[in-house]
Amino acid sequence: MTRFSSRCVAAFAAISLAILPVSPVLAASPAPVAGENGMVVTAQHLATDVGVKVLKEGGNAVDAAVAVAYTLAVTYPTAGNLGGGGFMTLRMADGRTDFIDFREKAPLAATKTMYLDAKGDIVPRASLDGYLAVGVPGTVKGLELAREKYGTQSRAALIDPAIRLAKDGFTLNQGDAGILAYGAKRLAKNPDAAKIFLKADGTPYREGEVLKQPDLAKVLEAIRDKGADAFYKGFVADAIVKASEAGHGILAKADFTAYRVRELKPVECDYHGYHIISSPPPSSGGVIICEILNILEAYPLAEQGYGAASTVHDMVEAMRYAYADRNTALGDPDFVKNPVSKLLSKDYAKDIRAKIEPGKAGKSADVKPLGGHESTETTHFSIIDREGNAVSVTYTLNGSFGAGVVAPGTGILLNNEMDDFTSKPGVPNLYGLVQGEANAIEPHKTPLSSMSPTIVTKDGKPFMVIGSPGGSRIITITLEAMLNVMDFGMNISDAVNAPRIHHQWQPDKIYYEPYALSPDTIEKLKSMGYTLDGGVGSPLWGQAAGILVGGPSLADIGKSGNARYYGAIDARAVSGLAEGY
Ligand code: GLY
Repeated sequence: MTRFSSRCVAAFAAISLAILPVSPVLAASPAPVAGENGMVVTAQHLATDVGVKVLKEGGNAVDAAVAVAYTLAVTYPTAGNLGGGGFMTLRMADGRTDFIDFREKAPLAATKTMYLDAKGDIVPRASLDGYLAVGVPGTVKGLELAREKYGTQSRAALIDPAIRLAKDGFTLNQGDAGILAYGAKRLAKNPDAAKIFLKADGTPYREGEVLKQPDLAKVLEAIRDKGADAFYKGFVADAIVKASEAGHGILAKADFTAYRVRELKPVECDYHGYHIISSPPPSSGGVIICEILNILEAYPLAEQGYGAASTVHDMVEAMRYAYADRNTALGDPDFVKNPVSKLLSKDYAKDIRAKIEPGKAGKSADVKPLGGHESTETTHFSIIDREGNAVSVTYTLNGSFGAGVVAPGTGILLNNEMDDFTSKPGVPNLYGLVQGEANAIEPHKTPLSSMSPTIVTKDGKPFMVIGSPGGSRIITITLEAMLNVMDFGMNISDAVNAPRIHHQWQPDKIYYEPYALSPDTIEKLKSMGYTLDGGVGSPLWGQAAGILVGGPSLADIGKSGNARYYGAIDARAVSGLAEGY
């Protein structure tokens, strides 16, 4: 079958726009990419190619996901990783579901006040830069568990493509080079990172140049030959601990030997006949998506329409209450009792709806919670195979290029996931999240996440695979892509590309992307009492990656001539690709 990708569709769309006098409507998004046997959607085109090859050669969606994740660690260093962590939501064709939690954990020597000075004030950037910011990585153990339990291919088959790309190098396209240029100033501060990601003269690699990563290739070869132990018990852990000690960090060998992946029961809920399967704590993602959907299901969003002031009001009020719960009540389930069943209950949603006044902005200060420039950080990929096995993965270094440090000889960028903890109750983190005690730092605890790898089913069959990067906005980006398909009738490409809104309880304002709200909608929202922040000139948010089963949009499903799968990578992903076969 001829390869039909969003790259060529985007080029075609650009030509069409040049010759047709069309207005900038949402339908200008590249057409969804069709595939009969499988679909891979990632933020980096070479990783997508690897995933599709694995599927074509008989691997299943989990095999493809593992190969994609290893490849992104080479070709998408801003977020792809071996030195970070993440989540995998799976739904196998036989109906089994699973959630693999391979997120980072606080080192055993971590303390609640480790980012505070003697006066109890936060030491600026201590949880963001350098070795003290690093959580114990989980990616390699997570990928190996997924492969062993659900995959069908050998470790070598799934890691070899990444080894080749690291050893022989890959030619940077404009997007790849742009991402490296974005991180150049930060990477320059760590000589071992600079040696890899900057040229000998200290300048960033340019489009058309080749990036080689021989140390990373050696690590990948060791993992291929010896499995996860090569990372957690071998020279990799030794090198990271040594560099951490030299760099005022607290990582120890015991942190690596003690690291365990968790398999958890996904969070599940129902909305208008759709069944949502998403991330449980230590992610807030699935719980908060479900809480928002439960609140919204009584409002006529489809009738009101995308972007209408009434729709924005309903969504923002639901987000306000749900994020208040997120930021105060949730944390690592091994350490805190998460009120998940309460947050997921339809009665709780009804109680919240009773407090929402139509046509009037609520006030975050009045919300009593239950308990206490971002674009290329984190990455999400969505995959489905010919059997209908669906895999949704979000993994991350937290900030772009993580803590900005590479332990000598490893080629591995390390995360700064420790910033996702509450460094001090009431003080905002990188994403402006004001969090509470449930997410306080404790040894071996996992910081609360917003990552929301999600699979939606309808009538017991896969319907949508979706997720996004975006820090605290991951939840609302993923939610809005789902609503765009389920309520607003968008095709999967428009759904991931449409401009978005976001509210996270604190600060009490509606954030909006360029063109998300028309001037008269903004006026209406202001007259309801809202404060707004965003619009033209403000940065774009995370790059969603989505798959719809059975048609490019809801209305198309069931029509003859459809392919089985339709995929779309957000145009905000400068090097991304959706590819089917
Ligand atoms: N590091 C972003 C998140 O996990 O939510």
